[in-house]
Amino acid sequence: AALSVRDALRARGASGERVKVQGWIRSARSQKEVLFLHVNDGSSLESLQVVADSSFDSRELAFGSSVEAQGQLVKSPSRGQNVELKAEKIEVIGNCDAKAFPIKYKERHPLEYLRQYPHLRCRTNALASILRVRSEATAAVHSFFKDSGFVHIHTPVITSNDCEGAGELFQVEPSSKTKVPKENFFNVPAFLTVSGQLHLEVMSGAFTRVFTIGPTFRAENSQSRRHLAEFYMVEAEISFVESLQDLMQVMEGLFKSTTMMVLSNCPKDVELCHKFIAPGHKDRLEHMLKNNFLTISYTEAVEILKQASENFTFTPEWGVDLQTEHEKYLVKHCGNIPVFVINYPLALKPFYMRDNEDGPHHTVAAVDLLVPGVGELIGGSLREERYHFLEQRLARSGLTEAYQWYLDLRRFGSVPHGGFGMGFERYLQCILGVDNIKDVIPFPRFTHSCLL
Ligand code: 4AD
Ligand code: MG
Repeated sequence: AALSVRDALRARGASGERVKVQGWIRSARSQKEVLFLHVNDGSSLESLQVVADSSFDSRELAFGSSVEAQGQLVKSPSRGQNVELKAEKIEVIGNCDAKAFPIKYKERHPLEYLRQYPHLRCRTNALASILRVRSEATAAVHSFFKDSGFVHIHTPVITSNDCEGAGELFQVEPSSKTKVPKENFFNVPAFLTVSGQLHLEVMSGAFTRVFTIGPTFRAENSQSRRHLAEFYMVEAEISFVESLQDLMQVMEGLFKSTTMMVLSNCPKDVELCHKFIAPGHKDRLEHMLKNNFLTISYTEAVEILKQASENFTFTPEWGVDLQTEHEKYLVKHCGNIPVFVINYPLALKPFYMRDNEDGPHHTVAAVDLLVPGVGELIGGSLREERYHFLEQRLARSGLTEAYQWYLDLRRFGSVPHGGFGMGFERYLQCILGVDNIKDVIPFPRFTHSCLL
């Protein structure tokens, strides 16, 4: 079997072992009698140098082609690498027409340019690094929750509820080509999920601490740098939680542990992003990691914003949602340290958030985490666990009938509980400094665009 480039590069002793390596040519250059290839198979940012004598046809061994090389792993005289492959046999598996190939040798293509080629952009170092970080971050999220005693739950993609009540739903029905009756396949209208929260709440009623990481869908008419129609959400739900502070501790722990794990598991990929995509971001991230996150109330936030209202397109006002420009200002105001904003107006938030019963400025126990560069990264709340409060909220929204099962959870062993959802792409943007959300997901879906 072939050795991965990553494992080949780790063979520090360069024992002279005979190996086979497969991958794509990242660079080819001939020097006198020798041909130097750099072969990359995506297992690491670094490529393996393959050295061949001039009997090999250098025209065939061009940038972008896939190859298989066999030979000896030897100590490399070149700087910056321990080993290289002294090739005895090189076989082109699939050649690459350099003229037609949208990725050009030695060019650093802007991310916007690469977005036109979702089927090819993963062959560049930049996208490959981002996607390896994404893979590591997924594993790190799992390991954070596993170590904290959470049970992982697969929540459904197809659902009949609109958790957020925002009406941004994609409806699901069989295509007209199928033989099943098109109308009412499920007997009820069915949608792609906007959040796994309600299903997690069910499970927290049995497992106490649960989490999920899965695709969520929103028919938002937005081309913004932080919205997608399909994005991944990391969600957690915890029973017997009595205060927002308990939740916020888990949120901060998730952010910091996951990030530390990513930094230690793929430092080179993160470094590439911090060097070439977002210069200066390394320091900004360190600043976030070494400081305790801050907390302000929604009411305080509005006061701060009012002092600076000349900076905004939207006038800040109590009872109105915070805009992206407001969120970004608040984070700057807090010294570029992530900040929790808590206790939002009840009227702005979905039916499930717990009533604070606090008089004229009526709020719920909601919490958003705002981070530098991105704004809202996490949204969460304590859930209304009191039957009669919930019953009234549902009635006011006309949801009583549809949510009988949800009320049941408050009839049969209800407990104070809470949870949150973190936009996974926004998390990656935040730690890597990537400006546009479309560059941290393999295949972005957004208004007017569903390539591939
Ligand atoms: O604030 P949201 O809408 O919260 C919920 O859906 C809760 N039910 C989560 C929960 O408590 N379990 O979404 C959570 C996060 C946002 O803070 C944001 O980071 C991200 O999901 N998000 C998006 N990311 C990319 N594209 C979009 N269109 C997004 N909408 C929300
Ligand atoms: Mg939100």
